[in-house]
Parts: sequence; C-alpha cells; structure tokens
Amino acid sequence: MRQNSVKNLTRRSVLAGAGALTAATTLPVCAPAQTMPRKHRVPFGAALEYQHFLEDSDYTALFVEHCDMIFPMNALKWEALQYNQGEFDYLQAEGIIGFAEHLDRATYGHTFVWYTALPDWVQSITSARQAKKVLINHIHNVAGHFAGSVPAWDVVNEVIAHDPRDKGEWRDSVWMRTLGLSHIDIAFAAAAEAAPNAELAINDYDLGSVGPRCQARREAMLTLVRRLQDRGQRIDSIGMQGHLDPDFPIDQEGLARFIRELQSLGVGYRITELDVNDWKLPSDRYVRDEFSADMVDQFLDAAFSTALPLSLSTWGLSDRYTWLSEVMPHRKGAKNRPLPFDENLQPKPMFDVIQRYLAV
Ligand code: G3I
Repeated sequence: MRQNSVKNLTRRSVLAGAGALTAATTLPVCAPAQTMPRKHRVPFGAALEYQHFLEDSDYTALFVEHCDMIFPMNALKWEALQYNQGEFDYLQAEGIIGFAEHLDRATYGHTFVWYTALPDWVQSITSARQAKKVLINHIHNVAGHFAGSVPAWDVVNEVIAHDPRDKGEWRDSVWMRTLGLSHIDIAFAAAAEAAPNAELAINDYDLGSVGPRCQARREAMLTLVRRLQDRGQRIDSIGMQGHLDPDFPIDQEGLARFIRELQSLGVGYRITELDVNDWKLPSDRYVRDEFSADMVDQFLDAAFSTALPLSLSTWGLSDRYTWLSEVMPHRKGAKNRPLPFDENLQPKPMFDVIQRYLAV
C-alpha cells in the first residue's frame, strides 16, 4: 500500500492529518511537523484511536511531535476491518497508517487474532473447518493489503489465560474452542504467507510483575514461542504489554530472566501498551504522577538493562483519552492519569522517565 498510501487516505483523514500538522507547528515548543522527533535509541510509539485522529488535531499533533511510530489502537481489529463477513473496510486503518507514512514514521499492526473485538458472525462459528477458513481469509486479506506498509504484526493477542494456574494455560475464545492451539500456527502461517517480510509477534499482558500468576504467564509465553519454533514457524518477537498495576510491583529479576530466555530462543521483545493503572492510588495528582513515573522507571530499568526492546509504545499518549477511564475509573472519582502527557497535553514525570531511556 506504501506506493499510493497517501492517495488512499479519505478526504476526512487527509483533513484530519492536515489539522494535526498545522497544530503541530503551533505547539508551544515544537519542531516543524515533518521534522522527526529527537533521536531515540529505540523507536517510541503510541496507539492512536481513529476518532481522536479525526476530531482532535492538538492531540494528534503530539504524536507528530514525539512519536517515531504511530499506529491504530482499534482500526486493525476484526470488528473494524470485517464487521460483515467478506466485506473489508480499511478506511480507518488507512487513515492512520497513511498519516504515519506521510510523516515517514513507522507503524504497527495490532492485531489479527484476539478473543474479543470480534463481530457476532465470528463469535458464533462452531466448526473447525469454518474457523480455519475465515481466519486464513482474514489474515491473507489484511496482511496482504498492508504488505509493505505495516512492518510488524501482533499476530495473536492475549491467548494466555489471565491466571494460567487456574483452569488451563490458555484463554477461552472462539479460536480455542474450534481449533485449539493450532489456531496460532494457522495464524502465523497465514501472516507469513501474506506478509513474508513482516515481523511476527505474540502480544500479552502481566509479563513483568511479581507473583506466581505472572511467573506462570511468562512460562506460558515461553511455551508458545518454543511450540511455534518446534513446528518450524517463524516468530520474531513478543509484545510485552506494559499495563502496569500498582497492585503488582515489577519483578525486576523475573523480567530480566524472561528477556534473557527470549534472547536464547532468538526472539526479541517490544514494550507495548505502556500505561499505569492508577485507579487505587491517592487522588493527589502529584503523588500519583510521581508513583507512576517511578513504576515505569523500575519496569524500563529491568527491561533496558537486560536488552533493548525493538520499540517502546504507550497506549494512547495523553490522559485526555484512556481506556482506563471507562474500564477502571479512579476509585475516588479523580481523572485517571496513566500516560506520559496530562489531559492538557503537557508532559508529566513519566514522560521524562521515558525520554531518559530513549536517549541515545
Ligand atoms: O468506533 C466505535 C464508534 O463508532 C461507536 O460509536 C462507539 C460506541 O459503541 O464504539 C466505538 O468502538 C469502540 C472502540 O474502542 C473505539 O473507541 C469499541 O466499542 C470499544 O470496545 C473499543 O475499546 C477498545 C478495546 O481495546 C476493545 O477493542 C479500547 O479503545 C482499547 O484501548 C482496548 O485496547 C486493548 C488492546 O487492544 C489489547 N490490550 C488491552 C487493551 C485495553 O483493553
């Protein structure tokens, strides 16, 4: 799609992008929009929701100013791409990916296979044959459409059970019910066929925290990597979601061991979806901001001192928009503050910590 990506942009996306570029040149301290962010030793990225891309040019301008990678938060999920069987709608994804390409920034593909964000027609599949057919068709269409534009994909997202010690290591989904773990092999093979030059990853959460549950999740992830390799399927990296939770402090030793184990398997890692779930922290924003910055510091210290990640991404860029305000709102009614920039797009202590790790 690269060669004519910007032409693929719809009028609304172009206007949105233009708005962001204009806004980016009016931010208090910023380089002209097309100028790349300051040099980073690993690409810094953030997930961008299409609605915000269209409607909030000041917010999008922050991505222009700071991100080496700009990628869709939701536009590459099944419900956005193939809501009706056989009808592919690339509008939203092309808007954001085309915008990233226009700025000569990297982008990322999240995600082919997940247990949710699926239209009803997929959730209701019961036969292995039908599941395999639609899964391969979806990945061939989407990976093929963006081949040359999207250099890396979360092929599979969150396939590990929340607590692998409970009722089995793997999370229930239409894919597990119809195909078992072979759905992962099928997905990776389909992605490798349609986008042979793309980096292929498995993405999951709670891989960096203390406790037996998170240790079991790390072991389950290593099992998945070895299983794919034993079947001769290429897996290039894992996505370590950084949805940090103060209830689960960082396991610096366990995280370092995990990354070293991945290295011994020839597999890299990306820090994905970084934010801090501050819903139980004190309401005082200064106390919360310092705590969250320190937690990010501990996480990045353990990771970066073991091996540099292939990229570091946050899940959104500003507290103005975060999934947490819907799903885990602050217990005392304060506004969640999980991200590097506050709701007025001003940098917070977390941003300074991230910049310190990105500095060359
Ligand atoms: O775009 C539609 C809009 O047209 C409609 O009016 C509106 C109301 O129904 O829904 C909009 O879609 C919503 C979408 O976010 C965009 O805002 C979906 O309903 C909503 O379910 C979706 O939530 C996303 C969620 O994943 C499920 O896909 C969150 O924004 C997103 O932050 C969250 O991200 C996940 C990662 O993909 C995987 N890791 C965990 C992370 C947090 O749950």
